[in-house]
Amino acid sequence: MIIAVDGPAASGKGTIARALARHYGLPHLDTGLLYRAVGVAVMRAGGDPADPAQALAVCDFPAEMLADPALRSEEAGRAASIVSVHEAVRDALFARQRAFARQPGGAVLDGRDIGTVIAPDADAKLFVTASPAARAARRHAELQAGGGTRSLEAVLGDIYARDARDSNRAAAPLVQADDADLLDTTELGITAAVQRAIALVEARRTSGRG
Ligand code: CDP
Ligand code: CDP
Repeated sequence: MIIAVDGPAASGKGTIARALARHYGLPHLDTGLLYRAVGVAVMRAGGDPADPAQALAVCDFPAEMLADPALRSEEAGRAASIVSVHEAVRDALFARQRAFARQPGGAVLDGRDIGTVIAPDADAKLFVTASPAARAARRHAELQAGGGTRSLEAVLGDIYARDARDSNRAAAPLVQADDADLLDTTELGITAAVQRAIALVEARRTSGRG
């Protein structure tokens, strides 16, 4: 079984994808980490993430890089959303994601284009959203817990900027797949959101058997 979980920044897609992976005993890939690794590698080399050639040159990074804590920073997220605009970068990262999705027994992947590009054949697709204000509040709380001092207004501005870049790009923009179930977590705590996600996946599994 392949489960695709897509959605904008801080919608809760990672939390839901990890919980689904645990529930079904499936391996999980956070595909945002691949783009973050490319963005961080370009910046460490003193390069410009907006330059497609420089980003493409570092796409063959070693798997250990995905465990680098620097990938979790807001700067890494921003760099990721800049390199992810380049079609050549998306193509270079495609095979890795596709192979993960196609492993025997299945997998859970979360990102922006899993249900549309990486695994259009997924058995269940969730498009996780939440209002920009709710997402900014969550990201702000995370940053504060990590000792960050960025204001809520600034974090909301980051969220809007990232939404615009991810939704308006030509290559694999953030869009709900026609056959994806929408899960709005604005008013849901983590437990309720995960229960709802499992119910949606179960409904797809049952209809798939018919
Ligand atoms: O966790 P958060 O939603 O903040 O970010 P992420 O999932 O780690 O993704 C970082 C950036 O990578 C996004 O803003 C997208 O621009 C890009 N990305 C993408 O283009 N396609 C994916 N499948 C995953 C991430
Ligand atoms: O992966 P994505 O960027 O979409 O979001 P996440 O990392 O799963 O969640 C962002 C933050 O919101 C985390 O601190 C979660 O614990 C929190 N969250 C929440 O408060 N309520 C939810 N329904 C889901 C996540």
